Amino acid sequence: MRPIKILVTNQKGGVGKSTISANLAGYLNIDKNHSISLIDFDKQASSTGIARKTPGGNIQTYKAGLTYEQSSGLTMLDAKTTLRNYSKDADITIADLTWTYGMSYDFMNEFDVIIVPSSLSQIETASTEIFILEYIQNNSAKINAKEQVILVAPSRIEPGQESEIQFNGLGFLSMCFVTPPIYRIPDINKHLHISYFFQSQQEAIANNFCEFGSFVYRKLKEKMESPIPARLTAPAFSIRNTSYVGSPQYLKAGALREPPAKNEVRHKAAEKESFLDFIPAFLRRK
Ligand SMILES: Nc1ncnc2c1ncn2[C@@H]1O[C@H](COP(=O)(O)OP(=O)(O)OP(=O)(O)O)[C@@H](O)[C@H]1O
Ligand SMILES: [Mg+2]
Repeated sequence: MRPIKILVTNQKGGVGKSTISANLAGYLNIDKNHSISLIDFDKQASSTGIARKTPGGNIQTYKAGLTYEQSSGLTMLDAKTTLRNYSKDADITIADLTWTYGMSYDFMNEFDVIIVPSSLSQIETASTEIFILEYIQNNSAKINAKEQVILVAPSRIEPGQESEIQFNGLGFLSMCFVTPPIYRIPDINKHLHISYFFQSQQEAIANNFCEFGSFVYRKLKEKMESPIPARLTAPAFSIRNTSYVGSPQYLKAGALREPPAKNEVRHKAAEKESFLDFIPAFLRRK
């Protein structure tokens, strides 16, 4: 098994980067039993704050705040060193960072998987697509050599909004996938620091995060179990649909409002592992 580095990023503020980083760290540590390093490259250190305050798990947290003014080549060099140092002892490293245009794409290329949380407003969908396309356009050889995977994570979405999950501008990229959506949690502050979302007493929240986490974990496992790519590989581009067609479960409006019985939660989470077998299918063009 080889260690994996994940970057959770977008240039947009408030899209759920820190919430997703911390909760993914909790899920991979507790449910999947991996040692996790969580590095907060944002000054406000929200994700490490969540991980430190949430009971359960044993996550190594590091604050390594970059500021906009510091996003020069030299600081990105520091960021690379920081990343290497803090990821040394972990199976999986998760870095939380708000991207700004001064930053060097070289840093993004340090990671095996990039998760880009995005809301579904037209402007944000477009800016997420532009962000990813610009990165790929300027780095396709390196991305290809590293076999990097980019996951767009629809974040804070409402039940019933699933049909709006379309990132068609990314449809031709073989390394790009759309994850199951993360639904908006009403009164989220009542749930923060109580437990990681995948362990929430509210089954809908737990199930939702388990589905998201399992999807990400499947992608990670493919990488963990594969040898480190040593050379440039075949074509960077192939046809792939990046609109989220959704599982029947998610297409049911009100999935959040009609949670399964309490004692079914873990069972359902286990079921989802096999249920998720068909996920690559919904990413294919119909
Ligand atoms: N699924 C969700 N449902 C409801 N609220 C959410 C959800 N995810 C995050 N939030 C809330 O949205 C706000 C922004 O979330 P978060 O801090 O994770 O985003 P961010 O992208 O890291 O923001 P920043 O750019 O400031 O670092 C927070 O108040 C958080 O509690
Ligand atoms: Mg944040």
